[in-house]
This record gives sequence, structure tokens and C-alpha cells, in this order.
Amino acid sequence: MARPVTKAIFPVAGLGTRFLPATKVLPKEMLPVVDKPLIQYAVEEAMEAGIEEMIMVTAPGKGALEDHFRPAVELESFLEARGKTEALATIRENFPQPKSISFTLQDDPLGLGHAVWCARDFIGNEPFAVLLPDDLMQAIPGCLSQMMDAYHVTGGNVVAVEEVAAELTSRYGILDVIEDDGRLARAKGLVEKPSPKDAPSRLAIIGRYILQPEVFEHLNKKVTGAGGEIQLTDALAATLGDIAFHGLRIDGRRFDCGSKMGFVEANIAFAAERSDLSDG
Ligand code: UTP
Repeated sequence: MARPVTKAIFPVAGLGTRFLPATKVLPKEMLPVVDKPLIQYAVEEAMEAGIEEMIMVTAPGKGALEDHFRPAVELESFLEARGKTEALATIRENFPQPKSISFTLQDDPLGLGHAVWCARDFIGNEPFAVLLPDDLMQAIPGCLSQMMDAYHVTGGNVVAVEEVAAELTSRYGILDVIEDDGRLARAKGLVEKPSPKDAPSRLAIIGRYILQPEVFEHLNKKVTGAGGEIQLTDALAATLGDIAFHGLRIDGRRFDCGSKMGFVEANIAFAAERSDLSDG
């Protein structure tokens, strides 16, 4: 039986250069979609999937992320005194309160694989989830919950995948598939950012992972890959002979909020789902 997953890593140490000047001071993961920061959507998705311990891998200068998850005592008293109950609820009873949130630093942005490696002491020898908050998912049940259901059947490593246009394979980790039932694909190989002519398929890994701790053995070697970065995909590829690897197509929509177009689309799509805004 697949071992339960109760911990999640949120790699949030990137520089967010595509969103300058907004991200000169504000961490990219604090950008709001409608009225909620990206990081909060990701934490809520993780909680829905049964994650209890959240580990954020952050960078110097991104303290706003930590502040966001601390109680805002003065603001709460102010809202209470003014009788602003709805506003108060957004930061109190409706605010996500997982069992724990820890923060650890990635001093240098050496790549996603390195960011995940920075959280190794919090994970120990357990399977864990990784959520990239800039991939915002609109799905019921949530993306990670759908993946957990698949994981309980398959075990091993499970990632969320999406079919991308041939010309976009060079932006993603791409699966080399041996079996595919249209929703769940089993991979025999993985390639990080292949050019369209070298891509073994168009099934691209998006920002959600359920991983076995063996991946740290490979990340420990700190091998650099595409773009001179320590790539998570390369470490996963190295475990393929020993650990089953499945990609799950998610029932729902993904917004790449690391790109301006995805961010704008997400704001419109999430506003359209809101009873207080959809008419407008
Ligand atoms: P991106 O590739 O989107 O990089 O990282 P970025 O730096 O955040 O943004 P741009 O490209 O400069 O605009 C994908 C995810 O991996 C994290 C990022 O924080 C983001 O959530 N990441 C990336 C790290 O935590 N550390 C790294 O070294 C690289």
C-alpha cells in the first residue's frame, strides 16, 4: 500500500523576473488572483488533499511570505472594534491554519531541484508533495486531491501533466510514455526542456508532484542540467528504474501565473466563479 503523504514543499525562492517591477519588493507568490495571494491558494489546495505540514523554501528578501501566515493581531483588533466581520473572517476563521508551516532558505536560486533539496531535513524518509504556487489550478476536487487518489492506486512518483503544443515542449519536463489510458500515463523516461524534435511526447509536467524520498539521493549529487540549473526532472529520471512514475491529467484548468498572460487569464476565470463578482 502507498505510504500516506502528510508533508508538502513549496519552492518559492525564485526571483520572479518576468513580473518586474511588481516583484522588485513583492514576492511573486504574493501576487493576488482576485483578492488572494497565489501562495494561499496552494496552501489551501494542499490542506484539502490532507497535507498537515507545509515547508516553504524561500529566499532572502521574501519575508512577506512568512508574514502572511502569521496572525495579524493589531489588524484583527481594528476590524473587530469596527465591526467589520466579513473582512475579519478572511484573516481569521476562513484563513488556512495547517498543523505547521516551516520556512527554510535557499540562498542561491540554483534551480527547482536544489530548492526541493533544501527542504530534505523536514521531509526525512517519507513521501511528500511539491506544489509550485505559480501554477494555479482551478479544479474540483483540487489538483493535489485528484493526484492523491491516483497515488493510492499506483504508489511511486506521481506528477500532474498537461498536453502542450509541440512548440512548447522546450519549457517543460516531458514524459516518455509506455502506457496511457487517456488520464493516467506511465513513463519510462523523462526529458527536461526538449526541443520539439527531441520531445518523446507532448505530455508536460506541471507544478504538482507526489514524490518518494529516494529522489533526495539523486539531488544530493547536485548535478546540473538544462539551463545550468539543478533540475528536479533529472533527479526523477534517475529513479525511474526503481520507482514507478505516473503522470495524471487533471480534471480542471491550469493557469501559468508565472507568465503575464496566464496571470491575467486566472484573474478573469477566478472572478467569473465568484458570486460577488461574476455579474460584473
Ligand atoms: P520559475 O522558473 O518560474 O522561476 O520557477 P522564477 O525565478 O520564479 O520566475 P522568473 O522566470 O524569473 O520570472 C518555478 C518555481 O520554482 C521556484 C520558483 O519560486 C517558482 O515557484 N524556484 C525556482 C525556486 O524556489 N528556486 C529556484 O532556484 C528556482
